[in-house]
Amino acid sequence: MTFPHRHLLGIEPLSPVDIADILDLSDSYVNLNRSRAKHSDRLAGLTQINMFFEASTRTQASFEIAGKRLGADVMNMAMQASSLKKGETLIDTALTLNAMHPDLLVVRHPQSGAVNLLAEKVNCAVLNAGDGRHEHPTQALLDALTIRRKKGRLHRLTIAICGDIAHSRVARSNILLLGKMENRVRLIGPPTLMPSQVAELGVEVTHDMREGLKGVDVVMMLRLQRERMDGGFIPSEREYFHRWGLDGEKLAFANDDAIVMHPGPMNRGVEIDGTIADDINRSVIQEQVEMGVAVRMAAMDLLARNLREKSTSEGVYV
Ligand code: NCD
Repeated sequence: MTFPHRHLLGIEPLSPVDIADILDLSDSYVNLNRSRAKHSDRLAGLTQINMFFEASTRTQASFEIAGKRLGADVMNMAMQASSLKKGETLIDTALTLNAMHPDLLVVRHPQSGAVNLLAEKVNCAVLNAGDGRHEHPTQALLDALTIRRKKGRLHRLTIAICGDIAHSRVARSNILLLGKMENRVRLIGPPTLMPSQVAELGVEVTHDMREGLKGVDVVMMLRLQRERMDGGFIPSEREYFHRWGLDGEKLAFANDDAIVMHPGPMNRGVEIDGTIADDINRSVIQEQVEMGVAVRMAAMDLLARNLREKSTSEGVYV
């Protein structure tokens, strides 16, 4: 298996074969994670630094567990307490860390494009753990793995992505990935929360949940990204739930075997009814979290293989 990329910055540069390769390897890590030992030495001797400039629960925990299960030395930088608060630029922080010779840098940042910029300045492999409203590649890959395992395929499915599309890097990465794998993507949400260049995305758009959910295999719900809004995008949370929140009545318009997804964190009663989120016959939200660890193990494993080849050919170490 060859993965022709130095970093994982987004879904955009990946080919369908790259995506399938990551998912195939992830499947084997799902098995490892379900076994008793849960350990491998694929990243033994490597240093992984997690730099989260924005709050995160599951993504950071998931990358940390993934690195530890593969035997890496994992360090979490407390970015809130770091030199950035003292005025150091992102690039200076990156160069300082780079001088400590990490092998894998996992970065989340509130600005779109910040992670790509950082990747240009360092020698190690960089994984984007979410940058602004740009990309969140490991989230789209874990969503794809969940869909592929639940539906038995990752093509010719109809997938609805619902809610705050405009501010969502999860939506952007998913639209790119699902499109590359030849699925039909339908965006549903209020006009104020649709991205301005939506016509260029090659997706269907509707503002009506009942209409939009007809015939879908997958319903992907998104959180209102209030931290990225600078004004009144929605009338009120109550009104929002009434029109765009997923409840049993609206879900009945989807296919009978449609699965319900959410990247978390969830706001129950705003974009999703709690009983739907907890319905083990429909909701795969916990599976998504499980798949997240496996996908991050696979992504770091593939990038580390390239690092090893590079250092061997340069004679740095064998
Ligand atoms: C998403 C994110 O941070 O972009 N969450 C996640 O990674 N699990 C979605 C969100 O914050 O709503």
